Amino acid sequence: MTSDVRFGQYPAPDRVIVHLSDPHLLADGRRLYDAVDVQANLEQALRQIERMQLRPDAMVFTGDLADLGEADAYRRLRERVEPVAERLGTTIVWLMGNHDERSVMRTELLDLPAGEQPLDAVWDFGGLRVIGLDSTVPGWHHGELEDSQLEWLESVLATPAPLGSILAMHHPPVPSSIPFFDILELRDQHRLEAVLRGSDVRAILGGHLHYSTSSTFAGIPVQVASASCYSMNLSLPSVEVNGMFGGQSFNLVHVYDDRITHSTVPLGDYTTADTFSAAFVDRMAALTPAERLEAFSRKR
Ligand SMILES: [Fe+2]
Ligand SMILES: [Fe+2]
Repeated sequence: MTSDVRFGQYPAPDRVIVHLSDPHLLADGRRLYDAVDVQANLEQALRQIERMQLRPDAMVFTGDLADLGEADAYRRLRERVEPVAERLGTTIVWLMGNHDERSVMRTELLDLPAGEQPLDAVWDFGGLRVIGLDSTVPGWHHGELEDSQLEWLESVLATPAPLGSILAMHHPPVPSSIPFFDILELRDQHRLEAVLRGSDVRAILGGHLHYSTSSTFAGIPVQVASASCYSMNLSLPSVEVNGMFGGQSFNLVHVYDDRITHSTVPLGDYTTADTFSAAFVDRMAALTPAERLEAFSRKR
C-alpha cells in the first residue's frame, strides 16, 4: 500500500524508467585509466536500483556501455544487469555510444548477427513508445545520423503512440559548456529537428557528457544522465574540465499523463536520517487530508 499512496494532487505516474548512461566497462574487470573501478560503480548503481523496490517499465542505458567495445566487457555487462532486470521484471534498452563497437555489441549483448548497421529500435511499454536512435559513427567519437535513419524515424513517428514517445540516443542534441565536447557533438542537428517538430516525442534522453544537464530541442525537453563510471568536474574552468572520480549518478524518469520528471540519484552509500518510514506513511494515510495537513504541515 505504502508505495502507491498519494497525498498530493497528482496521480501516480503512468510509467517509470530508470535511465543510466556510460558504464564504460572493460574486459577482465579492468579499471578505466587504471583508476576507476567502472564495474564496481555499475554494481553500486544496480544495488541502489534494487534497493528502491521499484517496478520500472524499462532500464534505458544511453550508450558507452563498453569503453573499448570488447566482447568480455559486454558479457560482464549482461552478467550484472540482466539478473537485476529479471528480478525487477523490467526490460533493458541497450543503446550504442561512441565507445561501443556495433558488431561486437550485436553478437555479445543483443544476440544479433554481426554487422555494422546502426542499432536503431523501438520498444512499446504499454503504449509508451521508446525509440532508440544510434547516433554513432563507426571509427569516430562524434555523432551523426544517416539519411536512412532519419527516414526511418520519420516513418515511426508518422503514427503517434497512445502515451507518446521518448527518444533515447547517446549524443544529446544540446550545447555543452565544455569546448572539447563540441568537437564530439551530434553534427547537423537541424536535420533531426525537422523530423521531431510536431511529433509525439515528449522527451529526449541522452548520455555522452558524463554530467547531468537539461535543455530543449525542437521544443522537446532533453535530459542527459551523467555516467555511472566517472563524472565531469564542472567546478573547474571550462577549458580544464576533466573526469572526476565521484559525483556519478543515474536518473529516475516518471512519465505522467501530461508531463515527465527526471530525478538524479547520486551513486554512493550515504548516511541518511531515519525520520520517515513505511509506518509513518501508513499513519499519514490513515488521516483525512485536513488531519494530515494539521499533523505534517502546520509549523510547531
Ligand atoms: Fe562516455
Ligand atoms: Fe560518449
